[in-house]
Amino acid sequence: MNINILAIESSCDETSASIISNGKILNNIVATQSIHEKYGGVVPELASRAHQQHLIPVVHEALQSSGITKSDLSAVAFTRGPGLMGALMVGVSFAKAFAYALKIPLIEVNHMQAHILAHFIDEPVPEFPFLCLTVSGGHTQLVLVKDFLNMEVIGETLDDAVGEAFDKTAKLLGLPYPGGPYLDRLAQKGNPKAFSFPITEMPELNFSFSGIKTAVLYFLRDNLKKDNHFVENNLEDIAASVQQSLIKMLMLKLEKAAAHHHINTIAIAGGVSANSGLRKELEAATERLGWEVFVPKLEYCTDNAAMIAMAAHYKFIKGEFTDLEVTPIAKMKI
Ligand code: KG4
Ligand code: ZN
Repeated sequence: MNINILAIESSCDETSASIISNGKILNNIVATQSIHEKYGGVVPELASRAHQQHLIPVVHEALQSSGITKSDLSAVAFTRGPGLMGALMVGVSFAKAFAYALKIPLIEVNHMQAHILAHFIDEPVPEFPFLCLTVSGGHTQLVLVKDFLNMEVIGETLDDAVGEAFDKTAKLLGLPYPGGPYLDRLAQKGNPKAFSFPITEMPELNFSFSGIKTAVLYFLRDNLKKDNHFVENNLEDIAASVQQSLIKMLMLKLEKAAAHHHINTIAIAGGVSANSGLRKELEAATERLGWEVFVPKLEYCTDNAAMIAMAAHYKFIKGEFTDLEVTPIAKMKI
């Protein structure tokens, strides 16, 4: 019997659909919502409306380009959480109606678990147990991955996500949204030792990224009082210095976790894994600590339905299905 699954992702600002057939991803269709750019952040109500507009075309394209018809489908999968409630509701309602109409099983997927299972889309794949650092605009988590569906969160941010810290700092510097990639580009040309920003160390393996945005705010205010052109004249050095502090906070806990759990296999997921500073530090750690580091293709790092499909495949094999009364959970835990 073939296992063909249609997967839907709608937790934040990407509407995505993917088809997986017998564990192989056939496609990954993503409609990005550019409407949020002019507001400098994701506007939940606009995200829900855009999901409603994009979802059916995206599913249609996924089915058409895969050559799999509706009657070939074995199940339909969706992101149950975590995410924006209204955005999740669009995907959940669609998946329920689709499963009901086709009389096929429904599979709920935890978005954070799916980010980690994105590592199993393409070779080479990490061996269990491994540590995964998931870093994006909405999440910063350290997870001990024991098996496909057996994961334990061993550390997480207690306030802002690291991507949020990148974006908020970039906004203070007048960069477009989302500012992470812009800040990264500037940082590559700057001196990371030019200025110093605080490294916040939380207990155990947890993170805190809200302090840095306030530190940058006061730093800019004080320096702008002395020099009107301070930001323009020092943009690259400021970007490099902030980036270095953020990456240092991530690396401190990642190294601590690896040492504590005696694990050398490290995986990175989420949009911030594109960051050049983080990649450089990971490369250095490969040499220094003997780590083996896994980073999926960028397409599978940012929010996408292929990772939801991958997670759904493992759940299908285990017979983990959901009933039609299911509702989204905005703060769903792994
Ligand atoms: O995973 P993602 O696409 O969406 C979610 O937030 O779930 O991650 C987006 C985040 C944004 O905060 C963006 O600024 C950040 O990833 N990002 C980066 C880079 N590329 C994307 N941050 C730093 N450096 C980058 N090169
Ligand atoms: Zn995500």
